[in-house]
Amino acid sequence: MYKSLIRPFLFKFDPEEVHYFTFSLLKKFGFLTSLFFPKPIEDKRLEREVFGLKFKNPVGLAAGFDKDAKMFSELSDLGFGFIEIGTLTPKAQDGNPKKRLFRLKEDSAIINRMGFNNGGVDAAVERLKKNRNVLIGGNIGKNKVTPNEEAVNDYTICFEKLFPYVDYFVVNVSSPNTPNLRALQEKEPLTQLLGTLQKLNSEREKPKPILLKISPDLTDEQLLDIIDIVKETRIAGVIAANTTLSRDGLVSESKGETGGLSGKPLAKRSTEVIRFLSEKSGKAFPIIGVGGIHSADDALEKLEAGASLVQLYTGFIYEGPELIREINQKLLKNLGETLSPFLK
Ligand SMILES: Cc1cc2nc3c(=O)[nH]c(=O)nc-3n(C[C@H](O)[C@H](O)[C@H](O)COP(=O)(O)O)c2cc1C
Repeated sequence: MYKSLIRPFLFKFDPEEVHYFTFSLLKKFGFLTSLFFPKPIEDKRLEREVFGLKFKNPVGLAAGFDKDAKMFSELSDLGFGFIEIGTLTPKAQDGNPKKRLFRLKEDSAIINRMGFNNGGVDAAVERLKKNRNVLIGGNIGKNKVTPNEEAVNDYTICFEKLFPYVDYFVVNVSSPNTPNLRALQEKEPLTQLLGTLQKLNSEREKPKPILLKISPDLTDEQLLDIIDIVKETRIAGVIAANTTLSRDGLVSESKGETGGLSGKPLAKRSTEVIRFLSEKSGKAFPIIGVGGIHSADDALEKLEAGASLVQLYTGFIYEGPELIREINQKLLKNLGETLSPFLK
């Protein structure tokens, strides 16, 4: 239904406009989704416990889709096991000028240079206060105007404000669209940033898992540093990976656009990063695998490489909500086979 009817229609329009259009449709007619999409799979055998949280299934929505926490209920109804909101910053900001989102249809990919457009953490907090039936991750960042030397303040503000309302945190230092943000992935500033947040976290009565979201463009040496930092600061895990600056192998006209590339061309590198982190760390921490999952087999590849959970963004745009179901169905079929070591 999605690929044969809905997608051809949506793909006729500007990608960012379509994003807001589908948001408003889901908001108004979300209760009708069961007419268009098969009922999500609910099965106890899909549940898993990762970093102390119980996920109803391992397929989540990646950050950037519901930046302002406007749609988590409707998105959860489509079958996601968890939703990551954000990236949120302390103050609202517009992001980069439009056009800033490009479909690369021939490559099953997207290039975006949104630049953390969001309504600010306070507005999101208000929306998160309402009842919900899904695990929510809070992905946090810094405002564009905040220099890197003061970035820790921005992350701290977001952490403190979101603390009562999210189940886990993601420290995003890997977006290519905020100038110089990725410099925060270097050993010294990153240890300081994560150390500060983890200290605040440990002072809470019930600390929450903090994860680090990394770029797929890090070198092996930098990835080894990441392993050391995760172990040293004792954060809960890593999300691999964010969008890439690489343009290898692309054929689409828009491949020259500035920004981060996501979708199928990212799949191989993202899996490589997951495998590297898992093997070199001796499976010391859980990994959420994201990047180019467009089929159930793509998701399985991430889990086999060492991910405990997966997330979708571009695959969700191209394949629709059926993809969530397809992955969960395949996981159920594979129970006791390749996936058994990862199921708890
Ligand atoms: C339009 C767009 C906006 C995004 N915004 C964010 C963001 O705000 N924060 C973040 O951590 N990742 C963001 N991402 C990255 C995704 O969460 C994901 O890591 C990446 O797209 C790779 O997964 P995919 O190939 O399934 O899309 C964004 C991706 C896209 C396509």
